[in-house]
Amino acid sequence: MIVHGGRTLQGEVFISGSKNSALPILAATLLTRDHCIIENVPDLSDIHYMLTILSMLGCEVERASGVVQVKASHIKTEAPYEIVRKMRASVCILGPLLGREHAATVSLPGGCVIGDRPIDLHLRGFEELGATVQVKGGDIHVLASHLQGATINLRGKYGPTVLGTGNIMMAAVLADGMTVIEGAAEEPEVIDLAEVLMKMGAKIHGVGTSRIVIEGVKELHGFTHTVIPDRIEAGTFLIAGAIAGKKLTVRHIIPKHLDALLRALQEAGFDLTSKKESITITSNGPKKPLHIETLPFPGFATDLQAQLCAMLSTIEGVSTMTEHIFPQRFMHLAELKRMGANIELNGATATIIGVHQLSGAPVMASDLRASAALVLAALAADGPTEISRVYHIDRGYEGIDKKLNKLGARIERVSPDISF
Ligand code: EPZ
Repeated sequence: MIVHGGRTLQGEVFISGSKNSALPILAATLLTRDHCIIENVPDLSDIHYMLTILSMLGCEVERASGVVQVKASHIKTEAPYEIVRKMRASVCILGPLLGREHAATVSLPGGCVIGDRPIDLHLRGFEELGATVQVKGGDIHVLASHLQGATINLRGKYGPTVLGTGNIMMAAVLADGMTVIEGAAEEPEVIDLAEVLMKMGAKIHGVGTSRIVIEGVKELHGFTHTVIPDRIEAGTFLIAGAIAGKKLTVRHIIPKHLDALLRALQEAGFDLTSKKESITITSNGPKKPLHIETLPFPGFATDLQAQLCAMLSTIEGVSTMTEHIFPQRFMHLAELKRMGANIELNGATATIIGVHQLSGAPVMASDLRASAALVLAALAADGPTEISRVYHIDRGYEGIDKKLNKLGARIERVSPDISF
């Protein structure tokens, strides 16, 4: 991808459905033999991987313009390594398979560029529901003769686990008796999944708090659901507006999902106007550096950390960014430095001294959000930036180059789009 920097962004952009909501919701279709309809599903490679996994498990899957239909009449309980290894979020099929079939085999996810990403809390939760967990030949085998509700604490060293909360909810909805999840994640994506499970007939209380109570039921049925807007895509575009915009509006969003980012942008000196389903960012006057820490929702999202680092690199003064969720998630810093950013990393805190002007350079994307950060930095840079390994960005952003070009950017793909 080649980004020709220095152009002013202006106008409005429509935000797609949330990747991190859609993935576990697609996995939840495994819980029923009935027909499930999911709307506002973004067209992303991670979604494509999940649909392939569902097909390989035996589901009938159909997809047309953002609507996915799944029918999991007869399913297998083993997901093949070749596809599972491509996406860490494949672990979220463990919960529904265990809930419905009392058995699941999925490859253990390998290393991840954003740091060590264990799934010990998911596995401990399954054990507490009565399953046995075995890791053999690189696969996780989870088996149960019977699932029994239990009290499970999912709070780990770095806070609650998002996919872990989803996985345990999906196993517990069909367990006997009551399950209490303490230290549950409160992210909007967890709430969206719980809403789907409740539409399917599950009995869940306390969603959106750190204590979720689930009364197991015997059977679940089909559903129709519209996935919530992607708050991380929305946040990325707001930061694009901050870094290179005059007046930019993001539409089809839920503004309250972005409160922590809005507070940060306001503190930095941007004007923000929120309406029911949109936010407009306007850039006037001098900007101030920030001191930000990533935290579980409603705190500042780790998935926006890299993008904000790109913005802070262009604001005069000394900013700091501390990463509490994935302390090693700083691969983008070295690439930003190649573009002239002045950043020093100490442990999990980056000190960013704003520079007057970034300059275009050849850079390499290391993961999804890091690649978004490089695109944002490139928008503000002098001259062209060539970003390689942009397949990372297609995992989580639906046509980011097309959307930015509509706002006035000039971004070219020098190799064709990945076709799914
Ligand atoms: C989800 O990952 C998201 N992925 C991530 O988004 C996001 O960064 C993360 O939540 C945090 O918000 C999807 O929803 C598909 P966690 P998840 O379990 O659930 C530790 C993106 O860019 N932990 O909440 O896998 C873990 O190491 C992606 O879209 C354990 O110790 O993250 C981390 O420090 C990247 N043991 C913390 O908890 C476990 O068993 C939070 O991770 C599980 C997690």
